[in-house]
Amino acid sequence: MTIMPTFVTPNIAWVGSVDWHVRDFHSYDTFRGATYNSYLIVDDRPALIDAVKAPFGRELLDRVAEHIDPRRLAYVVCNHAEPDHAGALPELMAAAEQATLLCNAKCLSTLQRYFDTGGWRVKVVSSGEEVGLGRHTLRFLDTPMVHWPESMFTYVPEEQLLFSMDAFGQHYATSARFDDENDLAAILAEAKAYYANIVMPYGKAVVAALDAAASLPLRTVAPSHGVIWRSHFARILEAYRGWSVHRAQPKVLIVFDSMWESTSMMADALYAGANVEGVEVQLIHARRTSLTRLATEVLDAAALALGSATLNREMMPSMAAALTYIRGLRPQKKAGLAFGSYGWGRGSAEAIQQWLEEVCWDVLRPPIRSQYKPDRALLDECARAGAELAARALSVR
Ligand code: FEO
Repeated sequence: MTIMPTFVTPNIAWVGSVDWHVRDFHSYDTFRGATYNSYLIVDDRPALIDAVKAPFGRELLDRVAEHIDPRRLAYVVCNHAEPDHAGALPELMAAAEQATLLCNAKCLSTLQRYFDTGGWRVKVVSSGEEVGLGRHTLRFLDTPMVHWPESMFTYVPEEQLLFSMDAFGQHYATSARFDDENDLAAILAEAKAYYANIVMPYGKAVVAALDAAASLPLRTVAPSHGVIWRSHFARILEAYRGWSVHRAQPKVLIVFDSMWESTSMMADALYAGANVEGVEVQLIHARRTSLTRLATEVLDAAALALGSATLNREMMPSMAAALTYIRGLRPQKKAGLAFGSYGWGRGSAEAIQQWLEEVCWDVLRPPIRSQYKPDRALLDECARAGAELAARALSVR
């Protein structure tokens, strides 16, 4: 597919791929598609920053060839070994027969597990090390766990340009490469979804990476996914500062699944109690909501009610999946309560209560349980619990 050449600077070109049709990215719902960004620095010793996903390898080489013969590449930088960026490396390294791969030691050992690297020319670089290309310098900066242990940034001081790999990225397919050429609200929404679903478990590592980035003069930040930040980087940096320390908004989520509407009635009563001025409240039916969206909403929620009907002494499968997914993302500094209905055998609310204790959120109260259909008194109790959630949410302002 022909895409207009895009220049980040007069001598640095975007040569990546736009994956318009991907909708599932290892269980992340990419309903706006994705991009795998690769950048070519044209210089005395040309360098390519990151590759693309394996199926796009030919496209990457064709795009490089619009600027230089790929056999002229002196360096290929691998900032991150995950296959959405490293997948095309075998094809690339075979074509770029003069190129030396630049990566850190952890990255090399990871690449060796994925690929036969025996024929590759490789130079292991350390954090802070520089490699000169001619008019440009590459400075490497280890950023472990943003997103994998081997992750690193590459900085070009002459252009005040940071190749930030997954950080500040978004799954957002677009024909326009820059932040100021797209709908900023949509980009920020996708950046939030990306952070929630990919980066959230690594908040401490993100804080360290942000501090390192903040020490650099920056004109442009070029991630490996989505748009390039040249006008609005302060907006995404500010958002990352909040997300990385689990800063919550005055927001309540009521997440549930129901069988014969009893748990649903309880959720509605919780909603009514929580729906006070200054608090955003969302009702989320777990079976009808993607895990990707759920995690995105959890990221900045202050308080959550988690509920399920009891099915064979267990919570509903959708809630089990949701809680497993959320636990893995390790959201912190939240308050929660459990609720649910049962018939002749209990199980769901108790299991959710145990989950709340395991993830170390503030548990606001014992579980609220209804046998079969909730009566008026139980719904009133739910409404009071909703008000407790709202009060907790307001306390974060
Ligand atoms: Fe886009 Fe962690 O790979």
